[in-house]
Amino acid sequence: MNLKKMVGYKAAEFVEEGMTVGLGTGSTAYYMVEAIGKRVNEEGLNIVGVTTSHRTTEQASELGIPLKNIDEVDHIDVTIDGADEISDDFQGIKGGGGAHLFEKVVANLSKEVIWIVDESKLVSKLGVFPLPVEVVEFGKGQLFRLFYDKGMKPQFRKKDNGEDYLTDSGNYIIDLQLDRIENPHELAQWLDSLTGVVEHGLFLDTVTKVIVGTEEGPV
Ligand code: A5P
Repeated sequence: MNLKKMVGYKAAEFVEEGMTVGLGTGSTAYYMVEAIGKRVNEEGLNIVGVTTSHRTTEQASELGIPLKNIDEVDHIDVTIDGADEISDDFQGIKGGGGAHLFEKVVANLSKEVIWIVDESKLVSKLGVFPLPVEVVEFGKGQLFRLFYDKGMKPQFRKKDNGEDYLTDSGNYIIDLQLDRIENPHELAQWLDSLTGVVEHGLFLDTVTKVIVGTEEGPV
């Protein structure tokens, strides 16, 4: 059973006529965008999408979903997105696909935020999934050393061909292998305080609904 497709299609049911909808990024969000595209084309559902990456913009445009730029909307009713880890207390890590900056901007403007995941993403504590930190080019080596000295096992994200991975904003990503994040709020505050860090993948107190794909169906 394709659990990503199951939750993607389930989440699309929460979209209502006239809504402004934040469209997430990733292999799970892909199915949600596909399902919304179907509803737009087959039911004549009238919505406006706000995308969180160039990839999603491309997919949504091809499907004929009407889109607006983030700065053209005055509110977002609901954002549906994937996640890399969700802890028992509903905090999350995102950015495995490198889109967490735009995703956080869109989520922060949304009345409701729905995450769609399969069971493998549920954890008791965050941190097994490497925490993505988007950094500007200038001084990125200094930030890397700071993380290294703190034992955070940093790695610059690379593409399959070995080149540096660059985000949609042209920034770099340092992934931190933390294994177990005891205090996500404290860590987020510290990362937020670092000059040169554009955004990190801790999404705290953000989500309002989680849809989990299980072999028995969406929960
Ligand atoms: C994109 O940067 C991410 O935040 C994704 O939403 C997250 O990595 C989940 O992606 P998958 O659905 O592909 O696992």
